Amino acid sequence: MHWQLEKVELMKILVTGGCGFIGANFIKYYLATHAQDTVINLDALTYAGNLENLSLVQDDPRYTFVKADIGDAPTVNRLLESHAPDAVVNFAAESHVDRSVTDPEIFVRTNVLGTHVLLEAALRHKIGRFLQVSTDEVYGSLGATGLFSEATPLAPNSPYSASKTAADMFVRAYSHTFELPTLITRCSNNYGPYQFPEKLIPLFILNAHGDKALPLYGDGLNVRDWLYVEDHCSAIDTVLHKGTPGEVYNVGGNCERTNRQITETILKILGKPDSLIQYVTDRPGHDRRYAIDNTKIRKELGWEPQHTFETAIEKTVHWYLENTDWLQRVLSEEYRDYYEKQYGGR
Ligand code: NAD
Ligand code: TYD
Repeated sequence: MHWQLEKVELMKILVTGGCGFIGANFIKYYLATHAQDTVINLDALTYAGNLENLSLVQDDPRYTFVKADIGDAPTVNRLLESHAPDAVVNFAAESHVDRSVTDPEIFVRTNVLGTHVLLEAALRHKIGRFLQVSTDEVYGSLGATGLFSEATPLAPNSPYSASKTAADMFVRAYSHTFELPTLITRCSNNYGPYQFPEKLIPLFILNAHGDKALPLYGDGLNVRDWLYVEDHCSAIDTVLHKGTPGEVYNVGGNCERTNRQITETILKILGKPDSLIQYVTDRPGHDRRYAIDNTKIRKELGWEPQHTFETAIEKTVHWYLENTDWLQRVLSEEYRDYYEKQYGGR
């Protein structure tokens, strides 16, 4: 593995999907915490990508944006050739489970084939580190007890998690067969600023603020393990710099909540009545419970989350209230059609 980075302090990194929720938070976090480093952001600007999410850094000389699809091999290769980054961090993905139920194909194209294009290009250009941003959803669903560790067998249930699992398997194969220095992070559900309002927390903030019904799937007792997005960013940064190539690191903050608890918390912060909750038909194949065992990243790499749920959810709700103009701009015609299709008949 002669091309693996010896020194990981000074870096030029290529981030994909940097105009989405976590990618945008990551780029801002990274530029703020690594004064000497530079970031190239490759993003196709799908419905979930918004250049405005990065307006704070758009004039920073250490930052470059390129509009491109990760599945476009000639462009990806050209970029790696001309910028010669030390590392690739792959956030680019179709990320919403409900959309994967109605239209799985784009999930295969971007999440599986797109990741494969990046791996091939990374290999050809001898990239020193390839970090795949994955998800705890690859492990499937837990019963009432137990946690996902890195050794938990992969058992994805939705087209989204199946596509992320397939990508993880290609990353593993490129590490094992071709000795590409890869890293995989598998994080639990994130919340925070700039999350597209199709996901539970921003959607329910938006609806509650407008006195609209909150469509809670099934009995509302499905459990997710919530992490503030900035803590996910610091975990990725830690793994990028300190992780051992070939390894997988689970990321989570020991913060399990039922969807009903999340909903009640949002309503309470906004001073809105519980009568806004509307129980609707469950999501097909809805995973019951996710929960992460974060021992490995804590013990081996010294990462710790810095935010508690109580303060960070409050901060998040206020961010959306203060950024209603951002919300209005991301709520395109496409989004309104999606909303009608997803919730109209429930
Ligand atoms: P997002 O949907 O908000 O953003 C995805 C970004 O990828 C957008 O900017 C979009 O334009 C871009 N993109 C999509 N297809 C592309 C393509 N073909 N080429 C280039 N860019 C493309 O997603 P997110 O919530 O920020 O998630 C980012 C990553 O983190 C994903 O890989 C997701 O699987 C993973 N993840 C998300 C969570 C979560 O809670 N949101 C948790 C764990 C892991
Ligand atoms: P989501 O934010 O879509 O993330 P994921 O499915 O990747 O975990 O959903 C989080 C939880 O909230 C999940 O159990 C599904 C549930 N949910 C609802 O009950 N109603 C909704 O309108 C949405 C979008 C999600």
